[in-house]
Amino acid sequence: MNSKIAAIIARKGNVPVSELTAYDYPTARLVDEAGVDMILVGDSLGMVMLGYPDTTHVTLAHMLHHVEAVARAAKNAVVVADMPINTYNTPEQALETARALMAVGADAVKLEGGEAMEAQIRAITQAGIPVQGHIGLLPQKVKEEGGYRMHGKTDEEAAAIMRDMEAVVRAGAFSVVIECTKHAVAKAITKACPIITIGIGAGRGTCDGEVAVFHDLVGAYPWFIPSFARPKANIASEITRSVKEYIAEVQKPI
Ligand code: KIV
Repeated sequence: MNSKIAAIIARKGNVPVSELTAYDYPTARLVDEAGVDMILVGDSLGMVMLGYPDTTHVTLAHMLHHVEAVARAAKNAVVVADMPINTYNTPEQALETARALMAVGADAVKLEGGEAMEAQIRAITQAGIPVQGHIGLLPQKVKEEGGYRMHGKTDEEAAAIMRDMEAVVRAGAFSVVIECTKHAVAKAITKACPIITIGIGAGRGTCDGEVAVFHDLVGAYPWFIPSFARPKANIASEITRSVKEYIAEVQKPI
């Protein structure tokens, strides 16, 4: 077991775990040097880096390219690589994809789904590769599921997410992301869950840690800001201001 991951596992019930996305060398280096616990090379890169409408356009080639750059930068944080859609349809394919991501420097992989993905997660963890699960809202299924919406609103849905968590745990994952899930449900799942839960859009203090998309955190993608985002800066307006200042300077007669 990677000692950085062992240290994350030991945080259950202790100091909350911070996870942030990064997709390139300079961002990953800044985030790592600032002390974040885990860097997720998320397939959200499809939207915030590549201009696609959702994550379903992201390929393994995209992920390998970005994971390699992030891994070069991360000295302390655990680098988690998202497995893109259709790269883990069977346990064999899942293991092959996970191995490819580990070969370019990931410390762990993440894939979406609970009960339906138990065999895939088990195939990866049994090969010694750490897995972060992902339950609740699954962005790779957002088109099928009719858009981004809060999950766990009915008793049936809450029970299904609980079963998903149990499957992820049985399969040997070290942590699990709970996305856009009713806060009370995320809290109940965290209480019942023996591994680290990481919330996004699941309420403050409901999970063992939180993950955020870097661009949402620093205000670098002004065209779409999720309602649950808590921006700490407005980088987009700083970029616009700097570029305008540069243009004016270039055009100024000497
Ligand atoms: O791709 C991503 O950024 C993610 C987070 C939303 C958890 O999966």
